[in-house]
Amino acid sequence: MKFFVDTADVKEIKELAGLGLVDGVTTNPSLILKSGGNIAEVTKQICDIVDGPVSAEVVATEYKEMMREAKILAKIADNVCIKVPLTLDGLKACRDIRSDGRDVNVTLCFSANQALLAAKAGATFISPFVGRIDDTGSDGMELIAEIKQIYDNYDFDTEILVASVRTVNHVKQAALIGADVVTAPPATLRALVSHPLTDKGLAAFLADWAKTGQKIG
Ligand code: E4P
Repeated sequence: MKFFVDTADVKEIKELAGLGLVDGVTTNPSLILKSGGNIAEVTKQICDIVDGPVSAEVVATEYKEMMREAKILAKIADNVCIKVPLTLDGLKACRDIRSDGRDVNVTLCFSANQALLAAKAGATFISPFVGRIDDTGSDGMELIAEIKQIYDNYDFDTEILVASVRTVNHVKQAALIGADVVTAPPATLRALVSHPLTDKGLAAFLADWAKTGQKIG
């Protein structure tokens, strides 16, 4: 399973990449706003750190303008993955951007039928937003399981990129279902390592070690 980090914070990306936790990055207009930077400059800085796909989102809602924006974003670096919304114009743009050989992430997916359409449009990634579905009282992970079954039924190549991840449990469930990728905020990726028994066990080992009076080397 690949780990993408869902942020446009370059400092965070650098730190997590140093820990070997970053296979790719996802950004969106809200994350660019939060970063306080210019989309082209921030995306370039991220692409200089990360070799894997770096999603940068078009903001046009109409096909022609989406294609124009996609061309501009694609010029930033070879690993820019163009993010388009799950609309009819977005799916048309997806098909054409893919035929130019560029990766596409179809975002804002909230149903299995939407995911089916994205796969038929040749999307590299489909991004179902599990956290936002949970917020409505439904179970976001049920959607991941449905998409997994549909993609397996028809051998679609589109990778399931679990997005809007809010908890470490989302990551575990996504892995159990067999999703290809999770994109998670930096704090959630860091939290994956935490377990109170690890902390307790380490403290006990260190206390006993101190009592031996020994040193290694
Ligand atoms: C994914 O590509 C999106 O940027 C992201 O996961 C959205 O998450 P949110 O629902 O926490 O804003």
